[in-house]
Amino acid sequence: MDELVALCKRRGFIFQSNEIYGGLQGLYDYGPLGVELKNNLKQAWWKDLVFDRDDVEGLDASILTKPDVLKFSGHEDTFTDPLVDCKDCNSRWRADQLKSNKCPSCGSKNLTDPRPFNLMFKTSVGPVEDNNSFAYLRPETAQNIFTNFKNVIDSTSKQLPFGIAQIGKAFRNEITPRNFVFRVREFEQMELEFFVTPGTDDQWHETWVNSRLNWWDQQGVSKDNLELYRVPENELAHYSKATVDIMYKFPHGLEELEGIANRTDFDLGSHSKNQADLNLQSNVLENNESNARLAVQDPETKKWIVPYVIEPSAGVDRGVLAVLNEAYNVEELSDGKTRTVLNLKPHLAPIKAAVIPLKKNNSELVNIASNIKKDLQRLRLGRILLENSGNIGKSYRRHDEIGTPLCITVDFETLEDNSITIRDRDTMQQKRIAISELSKFLEDLIIN
Ligand code: GLY
Repeated sequence: MDELVALCKRRGFIFQSNEIYGGLQGLYDYGPLGVELKNNLKQAWWKDLVFDRDDVEGLDASILTKPDVLKFSGHEDTFTDPLVDCKDCNSRWRADQLKSNKCPSCGSKNLTDPRPFNLMFKTSVGPVEDNNSFAYLRPETAQNIFTNFKNVIDSTSKQLPFGIAQIGKAFRNEITPRNFVFRVREFEQMELEFFVTPGTDDQWHETWVNSRLNWWDQQGVSKDNLELYRVPENELAHYSKATVDIMYKFPHGLEELEGIANRTDFDLGSHSKNQADLNLQSNVLENNESNARLAVQDPETKKWIVPYVIEPSAGVDRGVLAVLNEAYNVEELSDGKTRTVLNLKPHLAPIKAAVIPLKKNNSELVNIASNIKKDLQRLRLGRILLENSGNIGKSYRRHDEIGTPLCITVDFETLEDNSITIRDRDTMQQKRIAISELSKFLEDLIIN
């Protein structure tokens, strides 16, 4: 983990947030390369779940959430971790993470009994700060998918089964954030709520587990390092009938990368008006003041059905960490030296290609390199960089380390025959091709 954290800082992937003021625990900022990698991972998810399917619609809803939503979702009562105080040094810890019931800071066993600590952040909305003006920062993106269920149905005429996908920030006031971007207080989720007819939910649950496992493998997170964990009944979230976690071998241990839950009709039922006549299967909370019936009408029987929902919920930041960890390699070279390389899947690489004039500031070479950059950038495959450093060896090393799949060198032969040298990141092999062949070459590399 330490090597990865150092690379992230050195090369501009991820920084400690508020660093110049001593940092703020559990928050991280994505730098020039990190933002590209993160955006590429989110785009790959969106493409797979929204663009490539006809049964999923997208959503981008607000972060500030009315307390009622999180009351009826069950979060106000149950979204807690057990908190203990050390009576000797006044530090606070998560009771279920203590070793031998000792304070990790001073070693004392003089601890309070655990008490529930709600993880939701509160803020106030509007100029008057009182008990009625507060809102929560959403602890999961899922809830405003449920509260928009009717809006999406009414505006798209979707029939079951269908899904709503959302990527966005969520916030949890973790008692002890740790392990770099793995457990943080502000993070991003990629969540799909896939609504199905009750009775078909177990089958759909299995389908989504397999689909998500394959997707992570396609992002370079090898199935060899992934495991499925069927969450035991006594550990299930309050809304879940069954949850399967996709676990990844993170540098700090085997931990959850994505959870796929069968949330039944718990959420739509809880947020529906007139729950009494909806034949709800799950044990939803008492009647609310919602003005919407979050149900669909069976076209034949005309009965109202509250769909069940399967929820694949992935952490973007954890995803970035897993992708980086899988891609990070230190290779022994034949000359006894080593090279650090990020073997990222080309579609995730922050820089798709670096165009390098052999000689720094040589106007003829730089002009050609600049035109190549512009032409390749027009393909909209991602960022293409003009690297006017004049040091080819150093540029290759830098681009290996940041995962650029292709380096393109413009040299004096280019002036004569319009050819350039391309170098493959993974094999380090070089070959000459015509400038006119570059676009197709890069397209094949990034898209396939
Ligand atoms: N929506 C599930 C979760 O945030 O864990």
